[in-house]
Amino acid sequence: MSKIKIFDTTLRDGEQSPGVNLNQLEKLEIAKQLERFGVDRIEAGFPASSKGEFNAVKMIAETLQETSITGLARTVKSDVDTAWEALKSASEPCLHLFLATSPIHMTYKLKKTPEQVIETAVSMVAYAREKFPQVEFSAEDASRSDWNFLAQIIEEVIDAGATVINLPDTVGYTTPLEYGNLFRFVKENVPNIDRVSLSCHCHNDLGMAVANSIAAVENGATQVEGTINGIGERAGNAALEELAVALRIRSDQYPYTTNLRLNEIKRTSDLVAKLTGMYVQANKAVVGRNAFSHESGIHQDGVLKNKETYEIITPEMVGVTANTLFLGKHSGRHAFKDKVHELGIDLSEDKLKEAFSLFKQLTDHKKEVTDDDLYTILMEIQTDT
Ligand code: KIV
Ligand code: ZN
Repeated sequence: MSKIKIFDTTLRDGEQSPGVNLNQLEKLEIAKQLERFGVDRIEAGFPASSKGEFNAVKMIAETLQETSITGLARTVKSDVDTAWEALKSASEPCLHLFLATSPIHMTYKLKKTPEQVIETAVSMVAYAREKFPQVEFSAEDASRSDWNFLAQIIEEVIDAGATVINLPDTVGYTTPLEYGNLFRFVKENVPNIDRVSLSCHCHNDLGMAVANSIAAVENGATQVEGTINGIGERAGNAALEELAVALRIRSDQYPYTTNLRLNEIKRTSDLVAKLTGMYVQANKAVVGRNAFSHESGIHQDGVLKNKETYEIITPEMVGVTANTLFLGKHSGRHAFKDKVHELGIDLSEDKLKEAFSLFKQLTDHKKEVTDDDLYTILMEIQTDT
């Protein structure tokens, strides 16, 4: 089993979700929970972007003891200097420098030649290393960059002192096969690549961010970047809770471990949803409200006999404790009986039959029958003697 480092960017790329704006204390609360979750590095923000952001990153760097803290910077000296002021008291301060390497970004956004891009990247990595013990260089839009050009710039920034190389799929365009091949190419064609950590950073525009991240890991990535609940620009980033659970559940296929405490997943997800206002869709893998619910009678019956019939992840593994049997029109007698028992109510077989038929009538009008609805039915039956 090899260890994969987890780089959490909920507070930077995640906060770039439209409409999300966390204040300093909210950021600190999430950062503390990320530390409890066990991430290896927290990207606390982009210090040069505003005074409030600077203060939030500084507060997190000064407060957290165990986790390495990083902040984003453009390849300009003033960004690096500002980031250092915010991060210098962190336990392992890291600077995250990014510069685009794809033809479309270099031509239209940066208006720089490839040679100028290499020169800027090399000089800013060297400048950052005068202060920071750790410098990550991200070749923005790597997945749409020329691979030989990427190999060249990576080799040169490593010589200039970069300690982590990140190859982002900035626009969520790549596929597992292609992204995996990119990592293999870099491993095989950059002579000094084993001196650094190799990181993947995937966006979810085509719904493949987690699959692409795993493909990168299978081809040499030693760090995965992502966010809680997969929040982030546009369709978001790789969802770290999905990645962590996939690696654990399919450890037969994926011989990798992380430092994550999976039973902190639910708490972390709930906190991020509450503070960002980005509520998780009901059918979202791992943390959605329905992820452990079974509605149809056949599924409920199976689960009551042996959970593994329809559950590959136990709710306890990810810290979910709530009831998982969803009572609706597809529910059967077994699930109903189990629920009545769970509510602490004892009914004779006849009364149970009667209650079940009232429950079925109710499901014609209501999609979900709540505990309160059930109480009403059961009380009616109990008193009706
Ligand atoms: O998606 C991206 O390219 C980024 C970089 C700043 C690393 O978020
Ligand atoms: Zn990103």
